[in-house]
Amino acid sequence: MVVAVVATSVFLVEIEQGNEVTVVHIPVRGELPARLGPSVKALPEYGPSVMDASVYRDPTRFELERERVLGRHWMLAGRSEQVQGSGDWITYEGHDECIVVVRQADGSLSAFHNVCRHRGPAIVAEKTGCGARRFSCPYHGWVYDTQGKLVGIPEREDFGNDHVTDIGAIPVAVGEWGGWIWINLAGPDKAVPLLESIGPDISNDLGAFKMEDMILHEVIEWDVPINYKAIIDGFNEIYHVTELHHSPPEFTKATRFASFHVTGDNFMCFVPRPVSLDELNSESYDHHRNSICHYVVFPNTVFNCNPEHLQVFQPIPLGVDRTKFLCWELIYPGDMNDPEYASYYKKTMAHWEVLKGVVGEDISIYDQMTRTKKSSAFNQQILSEREFKIAIYHENMDRKIRD
Ligand code: FES
Ligand SMILES: [Fe+2]
Repeated sequence: MVVAVVATSVFLVEIEQGNEVTVVHIPVRGELPARLGPSVKALPEYGPSVMDASVYRDPTRFELERERVLGRHWMLAGRSEQVQGSGDWITYEGHDECIVVVRQADGSLSAFHNVCRHRGPAIVAEKTGCGARRFSCPYHGWVYDTQGKLVGIPEREDFGNDHVTDIGAIPVAVGEWGGWIWINLAGPDKAVPLLESIGPDISNDLGAFKMEDMILHEVIEWDVPINYKAIIDGFNEIYHVTELHHSPPEFTKATRFASFHVTGDNFMCFVPRPVSLDELNSESYDHHRNSICHYVVFPNTVFNCNPEHLQVFQPIPLGVDRTKFLCWELIYPGDMNDPEYASYYKKTMAHWEVLKGVVGEDISIYDQMTRTKKSSAFNQQILSEREFKIAIYHENMDRKIRD
């Protein structure tokens, strides 16, 4: 019989007749700043606004975003666990870019454009693979090592020596944080440091979930014929949950107590659980335990954290009005023979099934947006003060494509 449940800074420890049993990590606020509570300003003074709707369909603008936003910011390429062994690789494809990420023998990662320097086709044909030592272009057999260095050219003597000396696949910056592989197409010399991009607020607050200790349970992919920013917009407001997601009145009430935080280019949002509203007047309110914690890392990475499991939403633009939309579900690992873990797993999976239905509702609104995306009547969006993150997101995008 479980006689006590103690949340420590690291693990849920169940004390049963004096024996400690580690079940799963429980994120807690600890020494982190309050994000909800009496001393926290819940809503910045931004106010209501309107914005132009052409940002979702202007092909010239999309090209600028490809170059100056998608080409210069950190984005997810996959989970670290997908490339565990030396020579294991994954590929990333989106916004007309084709990248390969390879685990090196020393445990580090290398990433490079999967584009042959000879005449341009993809070097690596398979989307994923294991244990590669070399990659050979299927067209004429140029050979690259796992860091993208060109190490072999058949009939090399026929080429201009200057043309083929010191070249390799174009490098991409790559890093790991939170058990995620992040890439930046600006390249290793120009990319701002990954943690600087995520920022200390998010790396500390989201860091409490220890995503690096979680495992991928499922990833779902949709091909959505709308602009990726319209999908991000849906994660930058909670106004729609009452109507689209039919949330019960107590949840709608709780959303009115949510707090919104802007940190650099990124956002944090905390929605208290209805059962915790009475505790909101306490300075020690623990948002990790008692709220849905939500983080948006510019330009297209969204973390939605329930204390026991989390979802990552990743709209990858394929074109100005087409998006590969990935939804990743992460859970804490454990031993299914342990009844406590089996109970955690069952409860988490039940919640995940509900959330999949919720994502399905979001997808259903994308269908309606698809019908009107080029309509002459869709010229402007009217945003409430609680939709201000959408306005700031698009202001950031504007500023960056002008830089
Ligand atoms: S195009 Fe790759 S070897 Fe010729
Ligand atoms: Fe939604």
